[in-house]
Parts: sequence; structure tokens; C-alpha cells
Amino acid sequence: MTHHHDAIRQALRQVTVPGTTLSLEDAGVIRQLEVDGTSVRLAVALRGGTPAGAEAVKTAVENALKPLEGVERVDVDVRIVPAPQGPSLPQAGAPGPQVGSQAAPTWADRIAGVKHVVAVASGKGGVGKSTVAANLALALAGLGHRVGLLDADIYGPSQQLMFGGGQPMATADGKIMPVTGPGGVRMMSLGLIIEADQPVIWRGPMLMKALEQFVGDVQWGELDELVVDLPPGTGDVSITLCQNVPVSGAVIVTTPQDVALIDARKGLAMFTKMDVPVLGIVENMSHFTCPSCGHVEHIFGKGGGERTADELGVPFLGAIPIDPQIVSGGDSGRPIVLESPESEAARAFAKVARAVVERLG
Ligand SMILES: Nc1ncnc2c1ncn2[C@@H]1O[C@H](COP(=O)(O)OP(=O)(O)O)[C@@H](O)[C@H]1O
Ligand SMILES: [Mg+2]
Repeated sequence: MTHHHDAIRQALRQVTVPGTTLSLEDAGVIRQLEVDGTSVRLAVALRGGTPAGAEAVKTAVENALKPLEGVERVDVDVRIVPAPQGPSLPQAGAPGPQVGSQAAPTWADRIAGVKHVVAVASGKGGVGKSTVAANLALALAGLGHRVGLLDADIYGPSQQLMFGGGQPMATADGKIMPVTGPGGVRMMSLGLIIEADQPVIWRGPMLMKALEQFVGDVQWGELDELVVDLPPGTGDVSITLCQNVPVSGAVIVTTPQDVALIDARKGLAMFTKMDVPVLGIVENMSHFTCPSCGHVEHIFGKGGGERTADELGVPFLGAIPIDPQIVSGGDSGRPIVLESPESEAARAFAKVARAVVERLG
């Protein structure tokens, strides 16, 4: 924000988490930093540790900040929160033994205002996963819910086109504000940040960081549902997310062909293995209803999604018809739920949204 703010951050870099060489900032334990005139308020949440360690951090912060010009009052609140039970993020450069007890806040802490994370997944690309994610988000918003849409398909982000764009803004404390799209849905996509035709090559740690930022550094605020458009397949992004974020449930999108259904089964197996409840299967491009005569043609075969759901013992959430308007709307940031709410496809999305809500309980 200001020069003043920078100096404070700089000074804080000298305070480390007890038992590690990580600064408070690098360890990600600073929960709140507020500068109001000459007063600084800082909240720190240590993962594990002793009361003496917490007291030492408090004193070290006070000693680091009080000498700064323009700082008169320093309020430091240091808390010890339980060490995470699940897998925690690896911390680059941290010494080995203490890391477990001093790990950064989990991603889950950072989206504490989100009631339900709903992952939208598919066994393979091109089945309409992003289309379903965008329209499901809008249909949920149509039920009066507060909804977010996270494009986690960081290899091939598309929500910046499908859902529309805008410029994500940064807040004073380094958080990213999602763009507010139609229906008040808050959306964040890597596609909003990178150049349109730049290939993105992720290496392991970068990928973790990018994902972590998307979940934790975006100011999602209070949401009923955060819909996550996962990359296709069962790769590392999906696994990392499911390990670090409490996903309430997964929606698996498939088309009716056998090849797609086989892949859908693999997706389902992954979620089951990760203990993520599968909310159900959506069959996209299910059929085509002739606009002039009303004849229904099952171009890719009939009932595959429903059959697969039955076989696997998961609910069938609904069938979305093929509609050329989905293609044109998807290319121009006007999802069909918004553009033609009375269309068969939009009504099918609304039905899927109600089924999802019912399953979330
Ligand atoms: N029900 C549908 N009817 C017509 N076109 C569709 C339908 N669902 C998706 N599409 C189109 O298919 C293409 C792939 O969809 P997309 O949502 O990008 O798939 P994925 O995210 O699974 O790769 C897009 O051009 C999209 O507009
Ligand atoms: Mg996609």
C-alpha cells in the first residue's frame, strides 16, 4: 500500500517461526495485518508449538515494529491452533523435523467462509465440463445462493471466455478479488491473468503454489457454494485439491458414448479413493431436440449416463441436451442459463442445481 506498509512487512521478515528458519510471512502464519495511522494490528496463528514460543513471537514482533518511524502502537495477537491432521503443504527451505508441527494454515482455513466446495470433474476433455460448471454456478445463483466459480483447469482455463471476464484486482493486503460475473457469481480463472495464447508449463512446486493462491489468496468471502472446474482426468491438480480442500462433493460430467463413460468411471474411482462423496453424474450432450418438430434424437446413444450411475450406485443428476446456443453462448461469455433461461438446456441445468443442493443437504 504505502512505503510505511512496506517497511512493516520488511521488519516482519526478520521474525521467524520458533524452531524453523522461516519468517512468519514465508510460513504463511500471518492471519491479519492492519495498519491504521500509527497503529499496527497483527494476528498470527501458529500451527502447534508452546505458549512460550507464542510469547517469544509476540515480543519479537513488537521489537521489530516499535522502532519503525510512524509506528506508535503495536497490537499482536499470537494464537496456537492445532496442527493439521491431513497432509500439509511441503515448505521449501524449511528444516525437516519441526515442519509437521509448524506447518502453514491449511487451504481449508483460508476458505472458511465457503460452505460447500463442489468439484466438477470429467474423465476426459471436451465433454462439456466447463460448460456444466459455469451453468451450474449460475443456476445455483438463480436459487438465491451466493456462488463462486473457480477455474482450476490451469492447463486449459476457459471460464474467462465462457463466463466473461474483467480484471481481477488486488487488495491492500495482497489478496486477489475475484471478478463478479453474471448473477453476482464471483469468478477466478488463470485465463484472466495470463496472455491468451501463452502456453502454461507447470512444474510441481509452481503448480502447488498457483493452486494454493487460487484457493487461499483469492478473497472468496462468504459463499454457499464454490464450484470448481477441475482439469479433465485424474491428474495431480485434482488430487492436490482434494487433499487440501474439504470438497463437499464431486459432480462427474460425461457424454453418452461408451468411451466417455469408461473415463467417467475412472474419475469416480479417484473420488471414492480420496473419500470425496460423488454427488452424481451429469450426462451432457445427451440428445438433440429438433426445434421445429420436437423430435428427440439420441445422437450418441441413449441412457448411457443413467445406466452408468445405476451400475456405480451414484445418483443421476440430469441430462443436458445438445443446443447450438450453448456453443455460441460459451464463446461469448453468455452461458445459456442466463441467455435463455426458458430453454430446455437451461431448465435441465436448474434441475441439476436443485439435485446438487439436495445432495449437499
Ligand atoms: N450441451 C451442449 N450442447 C452443445 N454444445 C456443447 C454442449 N456442452 C458443451 N458444448 C460445447 O462443447 C465444447 C466443449 O465444451 P467445454 O465445456 O469446453 O468442455 P470441457 O471443459 O469438458 O473440455 C464447447 O465448444 C462447448 O460450447
Ligand atoms: Mg474445460
